[in-house]
Amino acid sequence: MNDLDQLLQQAQTEFAAAATPADLENAKARFIGKSGRVTELMKGLAALPIEEKKTRGAEINVLKTGIEAALTARRQALADAELAIQLKAEALDVTLPGRARGTGGLHPITRAMERIEAIFGSMGFDVADGPEIENDWFNFTALNTPEDHPARSMHDTFYIEGGHVLRTHTSPMQIRYAVQHVKKHKHLIDAGKAMPEIRVIAPGRTYRVDSDATHSPMFHQVEGLWVGENVSFKDLKSVYVNFMHQFFETTDMDIRFRPSYFPFTEPSAEIDMMFGSGPLKGRWLEVSGSGQVHPQVIRNMGLDPERYIGFAFGSGIDRLAMLRYGVNDLRLFFDGDLRFLTQFK
Ligand code: PHE
Repeated sequence: MNDLDQLLQQAQTEFAAAATPADLENAKARFIGKSGRVTELMKGLAALPIEEKKTRGAEINVLKTGIEAALTARRQALADAELAIQLKAEALDVTLPGRARGTGGLHPITRAMERIEAIFGSMGFDVADGPEIENDWFNFTALNTPEDHPARSMHDTFYIEGGHVLRTHTSPMQIRYAVQHVKKHKHLIDAGKAMPEIRVIAPGRTYRVDSDATHSPMFHQVEGLWVGENVSFKDLKSVYVNFMHQFFETTDMDIRFRPSYFPFTEPSAEIDMMFGSGPLKGRWLEVSGSGQVHPQVIRNMGLDPERYIGFAFGSGIDRLAMLRYGVNDLRLFFDGDLRFLTQFK
């Protein structure tokens, strides 16, 4: 091996040992820099005779080309290594699931309410909404429950300053809606003509001082009211039974009207249901109060009880939703736990 081959090998070794581009540039300077070994060899040519100068010059050029090739190869190798490190550091795991936008869903109570509204809507019932903060007249007195009436103690009322209460039931909507209806059709009534029937449901929040697995201080009711000249208990039965069949999407159930008492209906009945199959089969479940609207309440609506008659009911929406969705603790509806709520999406 001649001195030039040795030099090439030395350059290759030093280039290979350069761990960074800066090291490599320093190594380059040692061979082909201004005062590098190859440059020195070139300078030495001047002292040689002409023939030798030619051959030696050509050999040095070959050496220089070889060194340059080694340099380029090493530069590329270092750049590749750096890129590989960078790619690894910035690696994306494209197999991870994407971050999708979460979709919301309707609360089960809202779903039950919409269902109730659709079913009664199909039977010609209007849907009405009213205040949750009520005054004594609408919540009690107009509903034939005067101040000293023992039935007031049946309701564990939240009283608010200024004589207001948090409504203990949706029944005040009977009076509110009927009074508006009578006002709207006053010209007919005054002329002794027939008024269009009142047919309405009023779903919404209600409040009582009560809290356990089946009672919440805030709960939901839906009031129903149908008043006309010829509305009877049999209409109440057919409307309510039809509603239950549609709400639960089955006719495999028993429904009974059990005599009861409410100051604003006479006669009154508690409505119970019993599934013909499923986990609750064979158990009577109370779902609603109901009855024929009391003559005094008809009077408080601004109507003549000798001419107008009707029925009303007030059902627990939470209870209906629990039965429909198989929920065993009422409080789950109001805890806001997503593990529960997302099951209804
Ligand atoms: N308001 C009664 C209650 O909350 C239910 C009811 C409504 C009963 C209408 C009869 C008629 O218990």
